[in-house]
Amino acid sequence: MSSQGPLGKITLSKLQTLKNEQKKFAMVTVYDATFAHWASEAGIETLLVGDSLGMVLQGRDSTLAVTLDDMVYHVEMVARGNKGSWIIADMPFMTTNTPESTLENAARLMQAGAQMVKIEGGVWLAETITLLAERGVPVCAHLGLTPQSVHKLGGFKVQGRDEGAAEEIIQAAQELEDAGADMLLLECVPTQLAQRITQQASVPVVGIGAGPYTDAQVLVMHDLLGITVGRIPKFSKNYLTDGRSIPSAFEAYANEVRQGDFPTLEQGFE
Ligand code: KIV
Repeated sequence: MSSQGPLGKITLSKLQTLKNEQKKFAMVTVYDATFAHWASEAGIETLLVGDSLGMVLQGRDSTLAVTLDDMVYHVEMVARGNKGSWIIADMPFMTTNTPESTLENAARLMQAGAQMVKIEGGVWLAETITLLAERGVPVCAHLGLTPQSVHKLGGFKVQGRDEGAAEEIIQAAQELEDAGADMLLLECVPTQLAQRITQQASVPVVGIGAGPYTDAQVLVMHDLLGITVGRIPKFSKNYLTDGRSIPSAFEAYANEVRQGDFPTLEQGFE
């Protein structure tokens, strides 16, 4: 078992160097100290305390009911178990309504142990991201399928399929990077669109359901371990197979992402 990944303690500048050198890195969602320990020991560079916890831990059918207090509680646990990975915390539904309230809410997550916050949205986030960046809070901007808008989007559907919608996402990616975002995350967008944004962006682009060409990949831990209740998404993969333990499933995932073996074109969308 490795102690910390091949890069040692992960910083934003190490992640940026990986992007610059076109080396891929991995991310997984974790929600407590034990899984944070094993995922970081396995060398997974980045841990996301996702508001997906509303679905996989709390048993809800969306992320909308997750509160800032819920997130603080889980970020604290993850920070205690972490062995050097970069910790990103989701800002839950309705905690990013104004730049000022976002800053206050982000501060609670950073004080709980997060090193970056992830915010769902589009170009309207530019002013907020600039304020956070100025105050020393790194931001990952989440574009494409933004689950907090599930009711507006009409379900958990692939986004950016027609030219107009694709153009909007490309524009938002550029504007949010210009505003100060240090990372972009694309969820459920066509492979070619994700590829184009990854080529255009100077900051790391993480994908989920976005094909094989992004700089990094994220999976929800329950999907990666094959323990999701209900339908396993097409873009996911169960690594808890072939007699693997949970730590070695994490290692297998990180290795496949780094080598470009996961995801494949078949796991993306046209
Ligand atoms: O909350 C979460 O787990 C996420 C990932 C699906 C990217 O946002």
